[in-house]
Amino acid sequence: MNILVTGGAGFIGSNFIRQLLRNHPDDRIVNFDLLTYAGHLSNLADISPQANYVFVKGDIANRQAAEAVIYDNQIDVVVNFAAESHVDRSILDAAPFIHSNFLGVKTLLEAVRKYRLKKFIQISTDEVYGPTTSRFPADENARLNPSSPYAASKAAADLLALSYFKTFGVPLCITRSANNYGRYQFPEKLIPLMVTNTLRGRTLPIYGNGQNSGIGSMLTIIVGQSSW
Ligand SMILES: NC(=O)c1ccc[n+]([C@@H]2O[C@H](COP(=O)([O-])OP(=O)(O)OC[C@H]3O[C@@H](n4cnc5c(N)ncnc54)[C@H](O)[C@@H]3O)[C@@H](O)[C@H]2O)c1
Repeated sequence: MNILVTGGAGFIGSNFIRQLLRNHPDDRIVNFDLLTYAGHLSNLADISPQANYVFVKGDIANRQAAEAVIYDNQIDVVVNFAAESHVDRSILDAAPFIHSNFLGVKTLLEAVRKYRLKKFIQISTDEVYGPTTSRFPADENARLNPSSPYAASKAAADLLALSYFKTFGVPLCITRSANNYGRYQFPEKLIPLMVTNTLRGRTLPIYGNGQNSGIGSMLTIIVGQSSW
C-alpha cells in the first residue's frame, strides 16, 4: 500500500512511521508535514534514506497541496497525525488549532472522498470527553465535553469526519487515545516537562488543585466501513 502519514515529523507520527516501516517493509510511506515548531525531520534521520520513504513539506489545510500529494503518490490510506497539539497554546490563540485541526481535516476528508481512498484514519484524543470524575474509562458512547480550544477543535473534526462517513460513505477510523509520552516528544508536554524540570531542579507546574484524573479513556476507536 501507499500510505500518507500527515504530521509524521512530530512525536507520535515519527514513531508510527518507524514502526510501520519495520513491520510492513513492502509499503511505501509519504510523510506530509508543515514542519511547525513541533515537527523535526531529525526525528526520522535514521530512516530518511530508505527507498520506500519520502518526505513532502506541506499544509493539510491547503487543498491543492493535499490533493497533489495524494494523487501524485497514488495514496491508498491517509493516517492523520497533523495537528496543533498543545492545550496551553490553544488557550493563548485558538486560530492555528481551527486551521490545522478542523479545516485541515475537512480538506483531507474532501481529498479522500474525491480519490475514493481505502481508509482515512483520524488520530483524535480522549480530551474530547473532557475531565472525568468517574473511576471508569470513557467509551465510544461517552458524551463529548471538550474543555479547551484544542479539545474542541479535535471534537469538531471527529464530528465532521463522522458526517463524511454518514453522508458520503467515506471509510474511516477515529482513535481517541489518552496521553502518550516517549522519544521525540516536544518538551512542552506534561511528562517531558516534569522530567526536564526535575532534572534541572526547577519547580513542577500543577494546574488546578492537583486532583485531576487521568482515566478518561485508554483508547476508544470508532470505525466506519466504506460504502463505495
Ligand atoms: N501527544 C499526546 O499525548 C496525544 C494524545 C492523544 C492524541 N494526540 C493526537 O495525536 C496527534 C499527534 O500528536 P503529537 O503529540 O505527535 O503532536 P506533535 O505536536 O508532536 O506533532 C504534530 C505534527 O503535525 C505537524 N503539523 C501541524 N500542523 C500541520 C498542518 N497544518 N499541516 C501539516 N502538518 C502539520 C507538525 O509540524 C508536527 O510535525 C495529534 O493529532 C494529537 O491531537 C496526541
